[in-house]
Amino acid sequence: MISVMLSAKGGVGKTTLALVAALETGAGIFTNDLFSPIDKALPPGRCVKLKPGQMPKTLDRKRKIIFDFGGYADRRMIGLMKVADVVVIPTVNAFADLQVTIRTIRQVAQHTSKILVVVNRAKPGDLDKVRAIIHEMAGKYPVLELKTSKALARLYKHPKPVSALVAESPLNAYVYGDLHRQVTAIITAMSAIATS
Ligand SMILES: Nc1ncnc2c1ncn2[C@@H]1O[C@H](COP(=O)(O)OP(=O)(O)OP(=O)(O)O)[C@@H](O)[C@H]1O
Ligand SMILES: [Mg+2]
Repeated sequence: MISVMLSAKGGVGKTTLALVAALETGAGIFTNDLFSPIDKALPPGRCVKLKPGQMPKTLDRKRKIIFDFGGYADRRMIGLMKVADVVVIPTVNAFADLQVTIRTIRQVAQHTSKILVVVNRAKPGDLDKVRAIIHEMAGKYPVLELKTSKALARLYKHPKPVSALVAESPLNAYVYGDLHRQVTAIITAMSAIATS
C-alpha cells in the first residue's frame, strides 16, 4: 500500500501524520525533507531520505510505504500521485490554509480520486465546517479530524504507537483515548480508500 502525505502548505502535519501512521502500521517512510529528524524516530532503515530527483527504483505495493513529500513544486509528486493507493491531505481550519488545501485537492484530483483530507489541530466545530467547505469547493472526499495533542507534539522525541500508549495504563487509555480513536479512524479510512 502506497500512501502519500501531501500539501502545498508547510507545517500542517504531513510529517506528523506520516510518523503516526508508520509507528502504528509498521510502514516505512520515504521523505524528500533532508533536514527532518523523522529518521531518528524510526528504527534504522525504516526511513529513507531521498535527495533531489532521487526515487526508489521499485515500489512494492505489497509493502506499507508512506511518502512524506513537502513542497508542491517537487516534480516527483505527479508520478507519486499516479501510483498512490491513497493521498492524505492535511489542512487546518484557517482561511489562507483552506485556500491552499482546495487548490491542492483540485490538483491531486487530476491524477487520482483516492483522497483523504485530515483537519489537523481541529477545534470543536472545525471538522463540520471544513468538511462542508471541501465538499462544496473541491468534491465529496472523506474528511476526518486530528486534534492538537501533546503526545503528537512529543512524537519525534518519544516515538511510540498511539495504540501502545493507550495500552500502557487505564489512565493513558483515558487521556489518549480520543487521540487513539482519531488515529484509528484515519488509518482505517486510508486502508478503505486504498482497497476501494
Ligand atoms: N495534532 C497535532 N498536535 C500537536 N502538535 C502537532 C500536531 N500536528 C502537528 N504538530 C506539530 O506541528 C509542527 C508541524 O507539523 P509537521 O512537521 O507534521 O508539519 P509538516 O506539514 O510536515 O511541515 P513541513 O511542511 O515543514 O514539512 C511539528 O512541530 C509537529 O510536532
Ligand atoms: Mg514535514
